[in-house]
Amino acid sequence: MARLVIVSNRVPVPRPRERPQAGGLAVALKEALATREALWFGWSGQTASHTGGSPEIVTVGQTTYATIDLSSEDYRLYYTGFANGMLWPLLHYRMGLAEFRREEWEGYRRVNRAFAHSLTPLLRDDDVIWIHDFHHFPLAAALRAAGAKQRIGFFLHVPFPPLPLFRALPQGNILLRELASCDLIGAQTPSDASNLRDALRGAGFDVPVHPFPIGIEAEEFAREAEKAVRGQDARRLADSLSGRALILGVDRLDYSKGLPQRLRGFAALLRRFPEHRGRVTLLQVAPVSRGDVVQYRALRRELDELAGRINGEHGDIDWVPVRWMTRAVPRATLAGFHRIARVGLVTPMRDGMNLVAKEFVAAQDPADPGALVLSCFAGAADELKGAILVNPHDPDEIAEGLNAALVMPASERRARWTGDIAVLRRNSAAAWAEGFLAALAQIGQDAPRAGGA
Ligand code: G6P
Repeated sequence: MARLVIVSNRVPVPRPRERPQAGGLAVALKEALATREALWFGWSGQTASHTGGSPEIVTVGQTTYATIDLSSEDYRLYYTGFANGMLWPLLHYRMGLAEFRREEWEGYRRVNRAFAHSLTPLLRDDDVIWIHDFHHFPLAAALRAAGAKQRIGFFLHVPFPPLPLFRALPQGNILLRELASCDLIGAQTPSDASNLRDALRGAGFDVPVHPFPIGIEAEEFAREAEKAVRGQDARRLADSLSGRALILGVDRLDYSKGLPQRLRGFAALLRRFPEHRGRVTLLQVAPVSRGDVVQYRALRRELDELAGRINGEHGDIDWVPVRWMTRAVPRATLAGFHRIARVGLVTPMRDGMNLVAKEFVAAQDPADPGALVLSCFAGAADELKGAILVNPHDPDEIAEGLNAALVMPASERRARWTGDIAVLRRNSAAAWAEGFLAALAQIGQDAPRAGGA
């Protein structure tokens, strides 16, 4: 089997004496990495005096992790600037929040060339290269320019907007041209794939683009939840509820997650359905993310104030309606929280997939599962037909969804959950990775690509 080369901005390098980090991609690729030799290349997470150079290498079993540093200037231009200040809002349909600066665009492309420069000497002729996410649209072209003939796949983890919106991006056609150096492009949903295909075709490129919805290992997460629910943190949480129903939200502190609207939705529940007052608790875990980007700092202030206001208005001497945490909680602990929750509240304004929604479902007790209130704009809504779908722009609709979830009889919760868990078991993380890699291996089988790799 060919060696698999993964490229992503974040690399889950195992650190001795530290708990293993479990980012979404690392979890999704676990099976794929267990069955083949692999090289995982990307940013070290550190800034240094200059970008690139020879990578730092760590090998564990069959996987080698190779990372390079970024200069502080490139970190600012590439990561904070173009990737998170321009592409992230654009790809999430939020042009009003996007800021384009020519020097950031140039820094972004320079960093991608530096990635290609540092990665190329590590490549073997028969490697299969799989590039991940919006940080690396230009990378395939930079690798080709450095002589790479290997098969290259690209997977976009976030949404892709319709063409008229994408056109707002200055230099967008250059980005598409560079992306078109890949042999296969994957997106989360059929509509993201079709938007991206339209944009590429509009710019004159005919690369195959297909949906490959990312999954989770549902059984494994269920086992983790069963174990965690007996652990100290979950017990502390359960005891502290004093019999109240738990509504749980878990998100990075990001404006794409619809957090202010969600808190307003919860406040609307308390106002419009007073029978729930004093009987429910919303725990929102929202670890701070991308704190160097100004929009994220502003959002944090807004949420601190909003959570305080709702508690001030609705709270009682023995009841705090909103528990608001900006600290990160380990994924294994969260598994137990999901299992305790009566309602999972996942209301992004736009989301490529949203694995929290899937994890919530996987963590439930089959005998008495909680209900999921899910944004119709999360990729997961295509698959989780048992969820109560809401439009996250409307706090009243969120309130109605919450009420429906809270009063739903156990028989209906079980029926909805049974359908959803079957979907999750079928579309596992392993199936996602193998499905993409099989499709990539298939490309050019009939008509070999020029270059012959
Ligand atoms: C999203 C993106 C990932 C990114 C993650 C965390 O899930 O699709 O590419 O790694 O957010 O964001 P950060 O900026 O901390 O890497």
